[in-house]
Amino acid sequence: MIEVAVLGFGVVGSGIVEVLDKNSAEITRNAGQEIRVKYILDMRDFPGSPYERLLVKDFGIIERDPGVSIVVEAIGGAGQAFDFARRTLSAGKSLVTSNKELVAERGYELLQLAGEKGVNFLFEAAVGGGIPVIRPVAQCLSANKISEIYGILNGTTNYILSEMEKNGAEFSAALADAQKKGYAEQDPTADIEGTDACRKICILSSLAFGKHIYPDFVPAEGITGVTRDDMQFAGSLGYRIKLLGRARAVQDKIAAYVAPHLVSFDNILSGVSGVTNGVTVRGNASGDIVLVGAGAGKLPTASAAVADVIDAVKHMYAKKQISWQNGDKSDTVAPSVLESSWYIRTNAERSKIEREFGEVVFAESAPGATAFKTAVMSGKKVNDILARGINALSLFRVMGDY
Ligand code: HSE
Repeated sequence: MIEVAVLGFGVVGSGIVEVLDKNSAEITRNAGQEIRVKYILDMRDFPGSPYERLLVKDFGIIERDPGVSIVVEAIGGAGQAFDFARRTLSAGKSLVTSNKELVAERGYELLQLAGEKGVNFLFEAAVGGGIPVIRPVAQCLSANKISEIYGILNGTTNYILSEMEKNGAEFSAALADAQKKGYAEQDPTADIEGTDACRKICILSSLAFGKHIYPDFVPAEGITGVTRDDMQFAGSLGYRIKLLGRARAVQDKIAAYVAPHLVSFDNILSGVSGVTNGVTVRGNASGDIVLVGAGAGKLPTASAAVADVIDAVKHMYAKKQISWQNGDKSDTVAPSVLESSWYIRTNAERSKIEREFGEVVFAESAPGATAFKTAVMSGKKVNDILARGINALSLFRVMGDY
């Protein structure tokens, strides 16, 4: 029998305990032995909870207990969670986490430490919730040279954008609705400003390209500038607006960023709506592989975390190897080098637009507003042209037209 400790009894932590309990027969069969939760660490009390007897407040109890071989971290953040993660691995225990901030900020050093200690450090639940994406990139696609990885990596913003499109809601109304339904946090900053998606594309880039890409290297733009008009104008051009995290190889460097994009109706990701996430991985042998599913939520996230626990059990004596080198800002290039078409909403005259940009495709837009799609050009070039006197009210990259 394997004994595990779960750190944090919030939404994700309680989901992990619930899945381990509810699916114990299947989990025992798949792991080859029983997995039992010995401790749950949380500073809060949960009177009446069926798991009350397992609750502890002192991490030292878990750290010192040689019976606990796997710790599942579901606290979040990179402060106390990092301290517990480091101490778990140092104590020779395997670590499973759903914490994207922890992996994006400290993944390299934790993987190094896990390597030194001969234990597993697994984080399938940190990107894409219940979607298997870490293992496919690290394992199933490992025969490929990956040229690009991009996707809808945040459920909250995808829900908001989908509502804006479907119901013609403005951003603030769609956000309020997402909060009411419990999708968005009361402080939704990390989601709507693109920080959460940034952490996830950092993890995927590190896996795909083998060097730790830190969030500081990756510019992130959220969805607060997307308007209902943009949705409509993009639709008339044949696109939906999606917040994408994207990382693309540019020779031996990586251009990684997060921003709203126009995604063609022909692209599978344009049909990924609501809180669902989707990721496309482009390998030189596999071609495009698209993974779609529940990107957030208690049980989908727990599904991925518990699968990691099972994998850690199965690789207790033959370590499951995920590794990448440390990375540096000089491993990245600014995304402005990447070429694409661009969507621009402006109040400039059509004649001026055509004079400066040459051939463009105009959207069906309302009087007083003009929106159009440019020819393919770099981010630097589009900004140089705009600087000649065209005021862009919205400027979004068009995905795939390159
Ligand atoms: N806030 C995140 C989202 C949760 O909306 O996708 C899952 O990481």
